[in-house]
Order: sequence, then structure tokens, then C-alpha cells
Amino acid sequence: MIQKLVQSKIKSILKIRNSDSNKGTFGHALLIVGSKGKMGAAVISAKACLRSGVGLLTLDVPSKERAIVQISIPEAMVIDRKNKEIDFTFFSAIGIGSGIGITKNTQDILIQLLEEYKQPLVIDADALNIISSNKKLLKKIPKGTILTPHTKEFDRLFGDHIATEERIKSAVKKAKELNCIIVLKGHKTVITNGTETFQNTTGNAGLAKGGSGDALTGMITAFLASNYTPFESAKLGVYLHGFAADYTLKKQSMESMLITDVIENIGYSFK
Ligand code: APR
Ligand code: MG
Repeated sequence: MIQKLVQSKIKSILKIRNSDSNKGTFGHALLIVGSKGKMGAAVISAKACLRSGVGLLTLDVPSKERAIVQISIPEAMVIDRKNKEIDFTFFSAIGIGSGIGITKNTQDILIQLLEEYKQPLVIDADALNIISSNKKLLKKIPKGTILTPHTKEFDRLFGDHIATEERIKSAVKKAKELNCIIVLKGHKTVITNGTETFQNTTGNAGLAKGGSGDALTGMITAFLASNYTPFESAKLGVYLHGFAADYTLKKQSMESMLITDVIENIGYSFK
């Protein structure tokens, strides 16, 4: 049975930010995002992550591109993509994939991460495509990891599906098999852990633009870093992302809406 992801469910998950908390309470997220010509994905996912309550954020970007993120996001720290000395276990949550491209370097990083980091990850976009082209990696995905494919990425990973119903059934089966959370994105995004399945009730076609998925990755990574469970993180991210997009319609239209407008309204979603 598919349950509707409605506001009361989200309210029961969302924790109060205690007045005596400090940045350590909300974790240190690492986002491995962006590449030459796709640094917008890095900026978008980083801003959405920071707007979702994370304590600290580090961005892993190609060294030649680091100025873009340092200047546009002063709140984030930056490390160089080619630095092989990174101790991934230092981070409380890691999101990988938005705008990274498929290169030897990004393949190596994903493999290194799957070998070394045994905690749940958030895997999006080209990181999913890397796994699709090397299916042996599926077995290495840490338990509780959140995969965020859109329909094409899902089909690349798990085979072609024609009907939506059939794809949802596969998502449930694969989430159970892989012991992970699958966020099957689109209109009415489906979130499943293989046992329970939810369908989102927020969001609109103003999100049908490049960059919307990158923001979602940043948000889910922030919740995971802040100690929400992987399933809670996926639900919070998907619902609040859509809610912010719906609120954006107060000033914008579905045509004019930018993902950066949506990110500015994440605060309203929390309220
Ligand atoms: N109604 C509600 N939500 C929607 C709608 C809609 N009609 N259309 C899209 N969305 C939401 C999805 O649910 C998802 O959260 O917007 C987001 C879109 O995410 P993606 O499909 O990943 O798009 P994005 O990453 O922003 O842009 C496309 O992704 O896979 C890569 O190579 C691809 O670079 C391309 C990029
Ligand atoms: Mg995407």
C-alpha cells in the first residue's frame, strides 16, 4: 500500500532545534558535486543543504573551479576533488553525484567512497549513472543509502519500465534487496524503504527544470548529517522541497520560477 506523504507525517518527524545546541549537533556534511561547466549544480546543492539546518558543510569540487563556490557560498568549506587523502569517515553524511560528470576521477572517488564509508550515503545523478555502467557496485552500496534517481536514471540502474506502476513496484523490490531507500523522482515522487512506501503531495511543474534535483540532494544530505534516519531524511527532503516550490508560486509562476527562488523559500517550508 502506498501512503500519502502529508504534513502531519512531516510534523511528527521534524525535531525542535534546541536552544542549547551548537553546530556539532547538526553534523558536518560533505557534498561531492559539480564539475567544469556544471558548477551551478554545486552551488544549488550547497545552498539547499545550508538552508536545511546542517551544522557544517564542506564541498568537494575540482580545484580549478573552487573560486566559484568560495565566492558564492562563504558559509561552506572547500576541498580539492583530486585530494586522495580525504578521510571520508570524518563526515556525518555525504552526498555525491549532482553535476559531477562521468570521468575516471569521479568513478575512482565513488569506488573509494563505497569501499571506505560504511554509513548511509546520498547518491544522485552521475554517481547513479556510474553505478549503472558498473552494476557490480550495486552490491557495495552501504545499508541505508538514499538513491535519488529520476525515471531515466532508475531505468538505467534497474532495467526499462513502461508503466509508472511497474516502476514503483520495482523500486520497492530493489530497495528491499539492496537494503536502501529509493527516491523515485518526478511528479508525485515515491519514497520507499522496501517495506513502507510514500507518495509525495507537494511540488509542482515549476520544478521541471535543471537544478531542482541538485537542491533535493543537498536537502536530504543536510537531514542525514543532522541525525535524522535515512528514511526520515528522504521524506523531509522531498516534502519540504516541494512545499518550498508551492510557496514560490505566491510570487512566481511555474514558468518563471527558478530553483534559487525555491531555495530561498525552504525557510518558509520549515515554518
Ligand atoms: N511536479 C512535481 N515535481 C517535479 C515535477 C513536476 N511536474 N518535475 C520535476 N519535479 C521535481 C522532481 O520530483 C525532482 O525532485 O524536480 C526534481 C527534478 O530532479 P531531476 O530530474 O534530477 O532534475 P535535475 O537534476 O534538476 O536536472 C536534470 O539531472 O540526471 C541529471 O543529467 C541530468 O543534468 C540533468 C539533470
Ligand atoms: Mg538530477
